[in-house]
Amino acid sequence: MLTGKVAFITGASRGIGKAIAIKFAQNNANLALIATKVENLKSTEDEIKKYNIDYLLLGGNVADENDVKRFVKETIDKFGKIDILVNNAGINRDNLILRMKTEDWDRVMEVNLKSAFLLTKAFMKYFIKQKSGKIINISSIVGLTGNPGQANYSASKAGLIGLTKSLAKELGSRNIQVNAIAPGFIKTEMTENLKEDEMLNLIPLKRAGKPEEVADGALFLASSMSNYITGTVLNISGGLYM
Ligand code: NAI
Repeated sequence: MLTGKVAFITGASRGIGKAIAIKFAQNNANLALIATKVENLKSTEDEIKKYNIDYLLLGGNVADENDVKRFVKETIDKFGKIDILVNNAGINRDNLILRMKTEDWDRVMEVNLKSAFLLTKAFMKYFIKQKSGKIINISSIVGLTGNPGQANYSASKAGLIGLTKSLAKELGSRNIQVNAIAPGFIKTEMTENLKEDEMLNLIPLKRAGKPEEVADGALFLASSMSNYITGTVLNISGGLYM
């Protein structure tokens, strides 16, 4: 479904980002994969190698402008273009507002939100040149609902939705689609400390989501099947949010 396309995916060492990388590899995309440390991408590499695609593995910080410039340069040097940008890397630093440190606010906003701005901007001239592109921002349902103890995280995820909609309007005339995904409770290392039993009562489908199920949504938004969809927020939450 993605033959000939180049996809750049942040946070691809584990969880949802890794699942998206594998799903895209299965669909013949060439990949540039980012994680904080390049050696952490080894297990993803072991999976994608099977699919006979071309790939690039890069380590660094998506919130650092110099690292972002390096990621973009290396991607363009290798592949000569970019078709799909998936802003997936994210962190949480949860606490009630009275106890939330300013550095925890700043760090979450930088990794979750500023990174998407930096990467989108840095890749933009290549998207504009080829008159097509797909940008997928991994937000969260808490960006729509809010969540106690997650003021920083929810604000960053709501910010991603604002960014998505603004860019959809700004870039639509250039045939660049910009969409967000809002996952609910997905089983990954990020959520391993959540109490699953309490969550399940709130989820109509009565189970946590799998990273692959978020990757299915990302594949749809990355493919030509979504060519007339922009500025939307795809809710993948088993009904936790509706
Ligand atoms: P995870 O913690 O398992 O993986 C996060 C990935 O981001 C890792 O590959 C890590 O290396 C990378 N990363 C973190 N900071 C980075 C930085 N500064 N520079 C480069 N890479 C960095 O997380 P998970 O669960 O796979 O989440 C992926 C995305 O989905 C995140 O944006 C998260 O907020 C979002 N999400 C997750 C949900 C869940 O239930 N797991 C629900 C809703 C949204």
